[in-house]
Amino acid sequence: MKNIFVTGGSGYIGSHIVIELVKSGYNPIIIDNFINSHYDVIEKLRILTKKKIIYYKIDLNNKKKLNLIFKKYSCHAVIHCAGYKVVSESIKKPIKYFENNIGSTLALLHCMEQNSVFNLIFSSSAAVYDNGQFLPLKENGKTGSTKNPYGTSKYIIERMLIDLANYDKRWSVTIGRYFNPISNHFTGLLKENPKNIPNNLIPVIINVIKKKTAKLSIFGKNYKTKDGTCIRDYIHVMDLAKGHIQMLKKIKIKKSLKIYNLGSGHGFSVLEIVKAFKKNLTKKIPFKFIGKRKGDVAESYCCTDKAKKELNWKTEYTLDQAISDLKKII
Ligand code: UD1
Repeated sequence: MKNIFVTGGSGYIGSHIVIELVKSGYNPIIIDNFINSHYDVIEKLRILTKKKIIYYKIDLNNKKKLNLIFKKYSCHAVIHCAGYKVVSESIKKPIKYFENNIGSTLALLHCMEQNSVFNLIFSSSAAVYDNGQFLPLKENGKTGSTKNPYGTSKYIIERMLIDLANYDKRWSVTIGRYFNPISNHFTGLLKENPKNIPNNLIPVIINVIKKKTAKLSIFGKNYKTKDGTCIRDYIHVMDLAKGHIQMLKKIKIKKSLKIYNLGSGHGFSVLEIVKAFKKNLTKKIPFKFIGKRKGDVAESYCCTDKAKKELNWKTEYTLDQAISDLKKII
């Protein structure tokens, strides 16, 4: 059974990937500092997979400890999900984001090289794409004019990995650009459960439903979109997790650099999301319009043709199903 190291494996996306890895016959080994995730995820993963999940609580920047894990287990590939991801925080603390996201990736690459592990899948983001491009966004679209330090950290890591794969032919690097992951495993045992105050749309709406927040504040109502609110590409986290299995299966031994959009390929406005809560969960979401959020683009959704063709992967869940699956956590 191939060991797959999953950095950030106890986090929202990482934990859902762990489930799919076990289902597909891999042995996931979680490496996480648990700064933004909860220990009980490990027990929940054991329940869901009926398997004891190996995990290590370490900071990736601690090369010494990280090296010990690489010495202990043979590793087929690393899925690198670990990283800070709160855009607003990244604006206040850019160095924290650079140090953690870029620094820890460098430490990881060092350890991988030292231990002759050259297969890497990296969790990147739609945040690397430039604004104002032809939609749907394609993998060869323009990148780099990032709008915040979080996006910059993802872009810089992408650039490092692209150079690495291009100049050192031992490496096989796959970059997955995530669009907007939402929802959870159908049991509701795993979920997006940030320790800090949520600011992504779905966790904010859930807080409104739970009456922790009075109203959803919709950022902007006069964008040039079908109803004036921003449009995003929401992807069920289980579909996203399955995309990683397909990327894993396609890893070439050498000379490989691949970049894939991981989104549904469909755009939905904020108001359409509000309507989807009413339709699928009979929850009426009180909202008010406030000013635009700095850095928001009007519209972002991706072309999924490359992933469909090369990974033989496409999303299975509709937006309605993704919203329905939230019922277990509300
Ligand atoms: C954000 C980040 C993106 C990051 C992603 C995952 C920005 C500009 N982008 O994406 O870089 O990869 O999170 O962490 O922050 N909305 C509201 N009210 C709210 C919250 C959100 O109206 O309280 C709207 C936003 O304007 C947006 C949509 O909902 O149109 C989705 O927002 P969000 O969930 O924060 O994701 P993104 O902004 O797409």
